[in-house]
Amino acid sequence: MLVLGIESSCDETGVALVRTRATGLPVLLAHALHSQIEMHQAYGGVVPELASRDHIRRVLPLTETVMAEAGCNLAQIDVVAYTRGPGLAGALLVGAGVACALGAALGKPVLGVHHLEGHLLSPFLSTDAPEFPFVALLVSGGHTQLMQVDGVGHYTLLGETIDDAAGEAFDKSAKLMGLGYPGGPALSRLATHGDPQAFKLPRPLLHSGNLDFSFAGLKTAVLTQAKKLGDALQARKADLAASTEAAIVEVLVKKSLAALKITGLNRLVVAGGVGANGPLRQQLNAACAARGVRVHYPELHLCTDNGAMIAMAAAMRLQAGVEQANTAYAFDVKPRWNLNEIAHEPR
Ligand code: KG4
Ligand code: ZN
Repeated sequence: MLVLGIESSCDETGVALVRTRATGLPVLLAHALHSQIEMHQAYGGVVPELASRDHIRRVLPLTETVMAEAGCNLAQIDVVAYTRGPGLAGALLVGAGVACALGAALGKPVLGVHHLEGHLLSPFLSTDAPEFPFVALLVSGGHTQLMQVDGVGHYTLLGETIDDAAGEAFDKSAKLMGLGYPGGPALSRLATHGDPQAFKLPRPLLHSGNLDFSFAGLKTAVLTQAKKLGDALQARKADLAASTEAAIVEVLVKKSLAALKITGLNRLVVAGGVGANGPLRQQLNAACAARGVRVHYPELHLCTDNGAMIAMAAAMRLQAGVEQANTAYAFDVKPRWNLNEIAHEPR
């Protein structure tokens, strides 16, 4: 079965084609991505209307590229999958509209995919794919969650952020340091030249006894520190960046280890944009190796939004039989959508 996946929830247009197999995981045949980062940079963040318009311009050319690269034609597609939510309403509507139109024109069913399930299952695209069950640390721009994953569609929320997401903490701290958008990678690059212990920043909820996170206070602490530094900020920016990154990473690592302990599982999967962070990977690798825990990541280029994870999640859902593609072609996108809503009871 050939599954085309279209991602357009935010500032990346992604299209991919995967093929399911009788046994084993689906394989990625081709994928193409257009990032809008440059376009939004002038505004310091994503402008939703511009994002939607750009998705319209990119999605069909990207689809043509993917089909050519895979050596397939549109008529061979069996299912057209798209990101149904969560994300920017207008941006989601572009992917959903194109997917449903394509499905209707080809006479093929469509499937709306949860963006976070895409991230969650993206490590299955890597050569070092995980096996169920595992603990997942989902760290994207808008979400920070720890989950127990027992199988496709079997997700139990263990803890999540009560305010800002880790990605948001990176982005907002970077913004107030004048590092532009998107802040995470820029802050992380600058941090390599700084001392992570230079400033004492809070580790929110580190000892809360549960698996919830809170990052809003950290951003305020960074702001206070930046104000205190005044003119000296420029010279100490790398130190402040390194200290901010260290605070975020320490909380993510400690809570992930606590989740592994509570669940008794010995496998960790990290997914979402912040999963590309170097120190997070290094510290998780070291901590997990010391505990006999296997840790899996998506390929670096598939950490942030892409079409491959949407095609993969759709293919895995179809293969596991938790959902069927449909021919209703009713693209009711869900800008706000909790992953719990599509999760089955733990097995
Ligand atoms: O998963 P994603 O592409 O989009 C959402 O679904 O939200 O994640 C984007 C987030 C942004 O907050 C970005 O700053 C962060 O991931 N990010 C990073 C790194 N690369 C991306 N944060 C820290 N270090 C990085 N290397
Ligand atoms: Zn994402």
